[in-house]
Amino acid sequence: MVDHIKFTTEIAEDWKSVLSLLHHDEYNHCIKRIRDASSTSQLQSKLWLVSEIVNLNIDVEKVALLAGWYANFITPLLIDELGVKYILNLDSDPDVKTISYKFNKRYKIDHDQIENQDMNHIIRNLREVFDVACLYRCEIHNVMFEPIKNYGDFDLVINTSCEHMFPMSRFRKLNKSKNYIYVLQSSNDRQYDDHINCVDSADELADQADIVDVIYSGEMKLSNGMTRYMVIGR
Ligand SMILES: C[S@@+](CC[C@H](N)C(=O)[O-])C[C@H]1O[C@@H](n2cnc3c(N)ncnc32)[C@H](O)[C@@H]1O
Repeated sequence: MVDHIKFTTEIAEDWKSVLSLLHHDEYNHCIKRIRDASSTSQLQSKLWLVSEIVNLNIDVEKVALLAGWYANFITPLLIDELGVKYILNLDSDPDVKTISYKFNKRYKIDHDQIENQDMNHIIRNLREVFDVACLYRCEIHNVMFEPIKNYGDFDLVINTSCEHMFPMSRFRKLNKSKNYIYVLQSSNDRQYDDHINCVDSADELADQADIVDVIYSGEMKLSNGMTRYMVIGR
């Protein structure tokens, strides 16, 4: 079971730089959201997700994170606990790009490092260099309206924001050429206006996403009182 994040000196540096960002007026409106993204229940749900991937022994190198928000907890967990080599966070909120990069700056490869490499090596191994260069990457993207195939191949598609959007069957129609393993989370917490698509069970979440091969399904009561549901499958 994964029950903690490794709070390294590099994490301390990155997370401190997010707090510094909040002194700028243009990020004032993000203060509450950053606090919410750093809550106990956020950490509980991400630890649960990574623990189940470990339990299922799923080999993961490349992850598409749909609507990953600031990706502050999930990124270190995926990279440090599962050895993930590439994470692409696709989110429609323009603030997410700056803030999620700040939270995860330690995972971004320094571009000088790439420029200093032997050019022939780079040309021969473009894909490898691309992967290394993009250990953590964020794009502003509405995952319900654009296919993700242009961004490459993925072993795992994670969406912990299913309550915020159309049922995932819509995303799957846009991306039907790929047989991804999906990890989906949603909740029954209907008190927020932007929770437009809550569910009352993991089965309902699986049905909504047309998951026919369920390899994990469960629910967890979080510290904030909400019940979270999770489905892993194809
Ligand atoms: C407020 S966060 C909640 C996260 C979720 N409850 C969790 O625990 O991970 C929801 C995120 O989904 C993003 N989002 C909502 N609909 C989206 C869509 N259609 N495409 C991309 N991002 C979306 C928002 O921008 C936001 O960053």
